[in-house]
Amino acid sequence: MSHLNNSNTAQSAIWGQVDDYMNTLLIPNDPILQDALQANAEAGLPSHDVTPNQGKFLQLLLQIQGASRVLEIGTLGGYSTIWMARALPEHGRIVSIESEPKHAEVAQANLTRAGLMHKVDLRTGPALTTLPDLQEDYPELFDLIFIDADKPSNPDYLRWALRLTRPGSLIIGDNIVRDGEVIRSHSEDARVQGVRTFLECIGSHPKLEATALQTVGSKGYDGFVIARVKDIPVTK
Ligand code: DHB
Ligand code: MG
Repeated sequence: MSHLNNSNTAQSAIWGQVDDYMNTLLIPNDPILQDALQANAEAGLPSHDVTPNQGKFLQLLLQIQGASRVLEIGTLGGYSTIWMARALPEHGRIVSIESEPKHAEVAQANLTRAGLMHKVDLRTGPALTTLPDLQEDYPELFDLIFIDADKPSNPDYLRWALRLTRPGSLIIGDNIVRDGEVIRSHSEDARVQGVRTFLECIGSHPKLEATALQTVGSKGYDGFVIARVKDIPVTK
């Protein structure tokens, strides 16, 4: 946000208004989701939730993918978890990892109010100590992984995502544009460097096919990377 001048402040106001316009047409008001955002704000969580239209985008991706096993790295208050859990079939499950116990407590309350806890395996603790357990607990692997936690660890999360997916799985990363900061190769921001290494690893990985999309909207200027594990295993 530090680079905004007056004219692009006006521009970003329009982004928010266009989000509101489209959401009015496409995304019905939902008291459960609104209550979750309110509970997050009241508990003092950072407002890093996805927007409603981004939540719906994730939900549609799960449905298009036919996903029944989903992993989310970075639960925060569970807003995106609600969107994704709702897209799961009855037997489906989303594992969501949150390092901050207070955030996980708020998420658990939000997901319970949403009547979704039977589809959610919420794990509290640093993702890098939690992820090794998932190899044993979910041997069938994940259809989709959403990486949305501390950005400096993104390259490590990608390594785990590759272990926990199968050909045809999707790996989605949030916040890969960061107001355009992502192109600053000499940035001293560890989050920017984490995202840059993450994108470089995705781009050069023989098992992944990927694209990235810039987004604007009520949460400013950012973007997603979407990678698919290739169908044919690579032989070296
Ligand atoms: C940040 C993290 C997020 O996941 C997000 O959606 C927005 C911002 C951050 O750490 O700055
Ligand atoms: Mg995010």
